[in-house]
Amino acid sequence: MEVSEGGVTVEVPEKRHGASEGSGAGVFYNPVQELNRDVTVGVLRAVADECDTYLDAMTASGIRAVRAADAGYAVTACDVDDDAVALARHNLARNDLDGEVVHRNVNAHMHEHRHDVVDLDPFGTPIPFADAAFRSAGEYLCVTATDTAPLCGAHFESGVRSYGAVPRNTEFHAEMGLRVLLSALVRTAARYDLAARPVLSHVSSHYVRTYLRLESGARAADRQIEDLGYVDHCQQCLWRRHEATLVADPVTECPNCGQSTWTAGPIWLGPAHDADFVDRVRASIPDTFGTAEKSRELLDTVAGELHRPTHYDQHKLYKRWSEPAIGMEEFLSALRAAGHEASRTHYGGTTFKTDAGVAAIREAVL
Ligand SMILES: C[S@@+](CC[C@H](N)C(=O)[O-])C[C@H]1O[C@@H](n2cnc3c(N)ncnc32)[C@H](O)[C@@H]1O
Ligand SMILES: [Zn+2]
Repeated sequence: MEVSEGGVTVEVPEKRHGASEGSGAGVFYNPVQELNRDVTVGVLRAVADECDTYLDAMTASGIRAVRAADAGYAVTACDVDDDAVALARHNLARNDLDGEVVHRNVNAHMHEHRHDVVDLDPFGTPIPFADAAFRSAGEYLCVTATDTAPLCGAHFESGVRSYGAVPRNTEFHAEMGLRVLLSALVRTAARYDLAARPVLSHVSSHYVRTYLRLESGARAADRQIEDLGYVDHCQQCLWRRHEATLVADPVTECPNCGQSTWTAGPIWLGPAHDADFVDRVRASIPDTFGTAEKSRELLDTVAGELHRPTHYDQHKLYKRWSEPAIGMEEFLSALRAAGHEASRTHYGGTTFKTDAGVAAIREAVL
């Protein structure tokens, strides 16, 4: 079956596990990830003046490599799977694009070869590839994680094992997942005296995606460590507190309602995006991309998000207060009128970030 995406046409398997249908029949392709790929190419276009080479570390059908080559990059595509390698070669050729396709365990490849941009898009957790990826990536590392249940604390032990942090399944679970992932990536980079600075991150349809700008140097890496810390959270009234520290000093009782609290960490508490970078990416998404409108909307919301490590859901607060919810604009205006910062978030239509605590929010909007 042929699919066209972002100006290229590639062959992908009809269905995922149609084993006997010839070369490539079992190769992975997920149309739902088109937004992920459109944003990726937006990033590649936005950083084209500083980057030339791109590694599609787990290429499957080759779609990312084909799109990156079409955007002018010198691409390398890698996969361990025979059929994937054949299909990726075929798809580059059918678009008249050059690119090297490597049939290898990408960890071995990444320990030996450097690329300006490395893109990890594995099944599940990217952690088994993180060390090698930081050896390989010169300027940017792009990471997808699809194991959202471990990341957000719904599969607690698995999250602890993979990420070396305590995840908690709070009301802001999607952001918990992102910040657990960022914590593990920042700590992994630091082992190599590298600072990994998130410049764009989003959580969309059951995956987490982040783009990290890399900077060499022990002191730069130290500064990133300073943005790791803990969040205490009350499941009862949604009160929370965060503290940047590696030595946890948790609150055990909610000061707002007296319930016992949960502590998560070390998670990443620093900025998950750089608004100027996100604006540049937004401007690099052409109208011709299939998800142009959705991608731009997502990037607009991300660019406007406050740099706070957690968010609230307006509807969930009103439910706890047994009061009817109000419109988002009215709600955000009420917070601002009371002197607080407030922004929407991309985690959901009724989610917001603010510097106000849960009691101050209530006072401002009720
Ligand atoms: C989720 S798919 C990649 C999807 C693709 N990037 C896209 O956008 O459609 C993961 C791929 O990683 C490959 N893979 C798994 N382990 C690998 C390894 N150690 N080295 C290289 N490729 C690997 C699998 O064969 C599979 O094709
Ligand atoms: Zn409470």
